Amino acid sequence: MLEQLSQLLSVHVIGNFVNTYAWVWPICEMFHYVGMSLLVGLIGLLDLRILGLFKGIPVKALDRFVPIGIAAFAVNFITGFIFVAGYPDGGPIEYLSNLSFQLKMGTLLLALINLMVFYYSGLHARAAATPAEGDAPVGAKVAAALSLMFWVLVIFFGRMLMYNDTLLLFLGM
Ligand code: HEM
Repeated sequence: MLEQLSQLLSVHVIGNFVNTYAWVWPICEMFHYVGMSLLVGLIGLLDLRILGLFKGIPVKALDRFVPIGIAAFAVNFITGFIFVAGYPDGGPIEYLSNLSFQLKMGTLLLALINLMVFYYSGLHARAAATPAEGDAPVGAKVAAALSLMFWVLVIFFGRMLMYNDTLLLFLGM
């Protein structure tokens, strides 16, 4: 199954592009870091306010940054896809068979599901109505705590990609 997915994701145009121009990978890494910093920085700030920090700021004031967070996620999706589709030493299978990558993508999916539930369950509208010095609803606080945990785990597993053997050793695998 992973082999078939790897063939599906193996986009030769991207592979050739990555192999031809040595600057592509480091530039994508740079954008991946910028995207991660903006995404976790802005969404994280909103999560911390919902959890009760920075009470002087009404939630709505931070809500305005969410579109930048979404754009930052798109940057990471595009650069992440270039990493996987264009991986020079063995192709996508090198990432797909990497436990840290699998856990990163799984946690990323949980973070996105949590975000969807927050927005489409009415929790967001109630949280956004929280004034300065006000307390956000408990349900919104649970979603904010989960959001912070998932995004930090995405970063952790992203970093562990290069130390997958250490993770396997730690897990006794
Ligand atoms: C949306 C889909 C994403 C995909 C497909 C993806 C894929 C990847 C891949 C393949 C790498 C390894 C690059 C390398 O070998 O140097 C990587 C590194 C990393 N990613 Fe992502 N990523 C995505 C989103 C994210 C997000 C949203 C974050 C943070 C919130 C993130 C954080 C990281 C970190 C911290 C690294 C380690 C960079 C390093 O070792 O220097 N990624 N990502």
